[in-house]
Amino acid sequence: MKQYYLDYNATCPQLPQVSLAMQDIVNTAFGNPSSVHWAGRNARRKMDDARETLAEYWHVEPGSVVFTSGGTESNNMVIQGMMAQSGSGHIVLSAIEHPAVLHAVVQWCSRYPGWSYTLVKPDKGGKVDAKAFIEACQNDTKLACLMWANNETGVVQPIFEVREACRAKGIPFLVDAVQALGKLEVNLNALDADFVSFSAHKIGGPRGVGALVMKRGSRLESLIIGGGQERGRRSGTENVAGVVGFAAALGVLDYSRVAPVRDIFEKKLAEAIPNAVFFGQTHLRTPNTSMFCIPGLEGETLLMQMDLMGFAVASGSACSSGKREPSHVLLAMGAPDFQARSSLRVSFGVDADEVTSDALVEALVRVQQRLRNMSGRG
Ligand SMILES: Cc1ncc(COP(=O)(O)O)c(C=O)c1O
Repeated sequence: MKQYYLDYNATCPQLPQVSLAMQDIVNTAFGNPSSVHWAGRNARRKMDDARETLAEYWHVEPGSVVFTSGGTESNNMVIQGMMAQSGSGHIVLSAIEHPAVLHAVVQWCSRYPGWSYTLVKPDKGGKVDAKAFIEACQNDTKLACLMWANNETGVVQPIFEVREACRAKGIPFLVDAVQALGKLEVNLNALDADFVSFSAHKIGGPRGVGALVMKRGSRLESLIIGGGQERGRRSGTENVAGVVGFAAALGVLDYSRVAPVRDIFEKKLAEAIPNAVFFGQTHLRTPNTSMFCIPGLEGETLLMQMDLMGFAVASGSACSSGKREPSHVLLAMGAPDFQARSSLRVSFGVDADEVTSDALVEALVRVQQRLRNMSGRG
């Protein structure tokens, strides 16, 4: 049976050139980058080169790049660091943030009584209104968080407009750019946000490696205390092979030919299953992402049936304490509960073509038929 991996927003297979670059570090630059001897200096040189490559790609100074263990840590570093810095305050964030932002804010606000937050919902198409976002800011707002592109719908958010308003009000702005990297142009000099989070594994780099880009002059209480690595901003011996792998993955994947494949897929699926509901189509999306639901089919069953047919796709609903929770993104968009529980997310890779998209449509139609027959509605 042919297998199709269509879950690139979850993770991307590691690129061969990344593995080679990492293997080279393991073999030749094994020293601790904090050691002063030749082996340490060798490792530090490789790490500095990787930092420079990443900084150049993002149009920032190398000194503003802090290596972390991924997008989750980068986001937490800002949220928890800000909260640790002052006893009280308020955070504005969109209701469609990744759990690495959403849950971090909600949980830490419940632990620190002096802190509160406001969630800003998007429109029906999944885009946050910049004006509504700014209006949610208060006099005591100490942090604003808005993701660059949503991981479920792919919808691109108005980060440039929000950045302008935050700057005027003097509010530090965190942008989770994990899903934007590699799919949209990411120029941090143009964006000029205070904090921007990245993850290597979404672009073909290694898992467990990421970065936080901090604007010069921005301050954060350090959460990981130890040997003072990363200029005291994130202690712990750096993952040299990992960051070299991250740098090696930059710019390799080209998604420019994927949007037409996604669009053809949606068109053909709408023709084959006319009551299919698509999310986010009214706005600019990352080129590889499609989120939809087929009314009458429960998401989890659909996902399992697709898996049996060789298709690795994702469900919008999340598993929490063994229970399926509806997608918080779709609920925030105003979708009914049954849609938020039955949505599927397809995120194509750069090699996807019309053959892939046709096979996917055919499989969805067959699964729909099979499930209908099983429930006696065929
Ligand atoms: C938008 C977004 N932010 C953060 C993360 C977390 O990144 P990591 O897996 O590197 O911790 C993800 C991963 O799915 C994501 O899609």
